[in-house]
Amino acid sequence: MGPVVAFGLRGPFGIPLHFEEKRRKNMTAASHEFMDIRQEIAGIPVIELARQFGTPTFVYDGRLIQRRINDLRVFDTIRYAQKANSNLAVLDLVRREGVLVDAVSAGEVGRAKAAGYVLGGEPPAIVYTADIFDREALDLVVSEGIHVNCGSPDMIAQYGERAPGGEITLRINPGFGHGHSQKTNTGGEQSKHGIWHDQVAECLALASRYDLKIAGLHMHIGSGTDLEHLSQVCGALERVALEIGATIKAISAGGGLPTPYRVSDVRVDIDAYFQLWNATRSRLQDAFGHAVHLEIEPGRYLVAESGYLVAEIRAVKRMGGNTFYLLDAGFNNLARPILYGAYHPMSIAPADGATSLERQAVVVGGPLCESGDIFTQSDGGFVGSRELPRAKVGDFLVIECAGAYGFAMGSNYNSKPLAAEVLITPSGTPHLARRRQSFEDLIRGESIPA
Ligand code: LLP
Repeated sequence: MGPVVAFGLRGPFGIPLHFEEKRRKNMTAASHEFMDIRQEIAGIPVIELARQFGTPTFVYDGRLIQRRINDLRVFDTIRYAQKANSNLAVLDLVRREGVLVDAVSAGEVGRAKAAGYVLGGEPPAIVYTADIFDREALDLVVSEGIHVNCGSPDMIAQYGERAPGGEITLRINPGFGHGHSQKTNTGGEQSKHGIWHDQVAECLALASRYDLKIAGLHMHIGSGTDLEHLSQVCGALERVALEIGATIKAISAGGGLPTPYRVSDVRVDIDAYFQLWNATRSRLQDAFGHAVHLEIEPGRYLVAESGYLVAEIRAVKRMGGNTFYLLDAGFNNLARPILYGAYHPMSIAPADGATSLERQAVVVGGPLCESGDIFTQSDGGFVGSRELPRAKVGDFLVIECAGAYGFAMGSNYNSKPLAAEVLITPSGTPHLARRRQSFEDLIRGESIPA
């Protein structure tokens, strides 16, 4: 860590007073704020966070998560796709807001329970949504009676064998999909996700063999898609729902809502989106003669903007015409740029508290022994540059909008410990939600033959 400037008067939690004032104002922060130089996150100075928790550290603004939850309250159920960020403190926060949860593995079911979700309820608090059951997951959903959303006919058969006579949901692949990257498109023939839309009759027969009732229908066409593609799902789901018939009690719009990563990105019109789904739901209610419950299943939308990856600049070096900022965080912490060429806003938190700095074009990379360890790259691995304030070793670089699929996709590559995670609670207190891994954590479970 670089030098840290001294502050004068301090308020609660040892926070300097001018930041405390800002923190109070932020109580009403509507959205992620894009900026070049970032002094604070949710009212807490970045350099204080770095000093207290070290780097690299993910910091989440709990108030912003609440805000995004509130945007979606028109839906009957908000079911959080915890794969985006399954830290227990985040799960606990969303649970307290009345949000239910989706799980894609036995581990995610365990996390939900550890965060206080209680099994059962109507609609079920935890739903297992996947394309397969590994043996552990099948044992778990059967023994604990967890509601399953089947993404393959094999899941129906395997579940029916073990737990005949209950209710299930079907995840249907409508034959089209769309995502922010081809790798996050979950519909169409090239996708492994869901049950192909023309196999519904087959699935009905399979379900009836095990006396299973198809009580729910779900479609999720991709992640980081747009309203145009999302709206096409309503019609596709309606057709399948009518084919299945009145056993359907609940429909799910899936996730996929986009969220702004650039100043120019526009926030999706939730009201317009809800209206489309509400109309679909109403027509189904008329057809079935009973209420149909409407769910949405966001991951990114709830948590992306809330997350900041705080890293320290450890080297500033020149390669011919390029200037590189090399950080102590790499794709072991945030894989989205190397995986999808994903763009994340970045800011500098100068260690000396400077508030204005000249800008320069820089390439931002990490510590890993791999050329692809670059945060400023486009799809295909093409290295790009970014206009950022002129920084020096010891300054902090904050990679923003990193709350979704950031830590959750982290790895121990190059034997780097997983980062620490800090949740700034809605009341403004920074809470260490996960300590940085130690060397013992890194080698836990390994052994050398005698
Ligand atoms: N429901 C299901 C069944 C899903 O598979 C997903 C995401 C979601 C909901 C939530 O989608 P969201 O609202 O977050 O778009 N690692 C990629 C995203 C992969 C999404 C996987 N499934 C990324 O970093 O962009």
